[in-house]
Amino acid sequence: MSINYARQSKSIRYGKLEARTAVIDEIFKIKWPHKTIRLLTLPGAWWHFERQVGVIPKHSRFSHFSLTCCERDRIVFNNAALRLPRGKRGIKIGWMKELNNAKVVTNRNDIVLINCNIADFMAITERKYDVVWLDFCGPIHDNVMDSIATTKRVVRTPGLLAITFMKGRETPFYTDLIHQNPNGRAGMITNQIKEMVNPEIEQVYISEYKDTTEMIHMIFKINPYKEINSYVPRNRL
Ligand SMILES: C[S@@+](CC[C@H](N)C(=O)[O-])C[C@H]1O[C@@H](n2cnc3c(N)ncnc32)[C@H](O)[C@@H]1O
Repeated sequence: MSINYARQSKSIRYGKLEARTAVIDEIFKIKWPHKTIRLLTLPGAWWHFERQVGVIPKHSRFSHFSLTCCERDRIVFNNAALRLPRGKRGIKIGWMKELNNAKVVTNRNDIVLINCNIADFMAITERKYDVVWLDFCGPIHDNVMDSIATTKRVVRTPGLLAITFMKGRETPFYTDLIHQNPNGRAGMITNQIKEMVNPEIEQVYISEYKDTTEMIHMIFKINPYKEINSYVPRNRL
């Protein structure tokens, strides 16, 4: 049997695979107080993570996932739209007035893809999400930090916030903060997130991996048990 290693190393990115799996593992660890789990993600052109979420077996505790996805690049958006997992009722195209008429494609069931900057979407939406994954491909800079700060408006409690970004090439402001922090880059990010999003937020996972470049992947959990305790299931009301 011959194995084509060159092809394998290009097409299978284990670090990224682990990063996606880690988010799914954390989703399963939480006792969600409702059946439909709402996710807000950056799917890129391929929907790898979103498909991985979709294959969660039917006997799982969740009856349903509902996905809202943003992609700011028009070409990547068009490619993602072409590969959007089909629902029973076909695809529908529309525009979001509140977002400068951003193009929207939906499978009319559980997936909505919007051609916009995720920070702009989070700034205007009234929807709350159980899981937000900001899978940025670039380094930490002010716009990235602004996007992270805006998650405060949309992440539910209990909730998960995952962020992935390039390791290095930060602007001088963040390089200084990293050097001042005894826990380096990860410590700086955690502090910023506590300050900007929620002081109760807890870092539950961190990994570094090599994709096209060195990446850092962090998952945070917001007040995991507070709401669960006060939650009364509908059938017991
Ligand atoms: C690393 S890819 C996502 C990969 C995907 N999550 C996966 O599991 O394979 C990141 C995508 O998000 C887009 N993106 C980056 N920052 C964004 C932002 N602020 N708003 C919307 N899209 C953004 C990029 O254009 C890129 O297509």
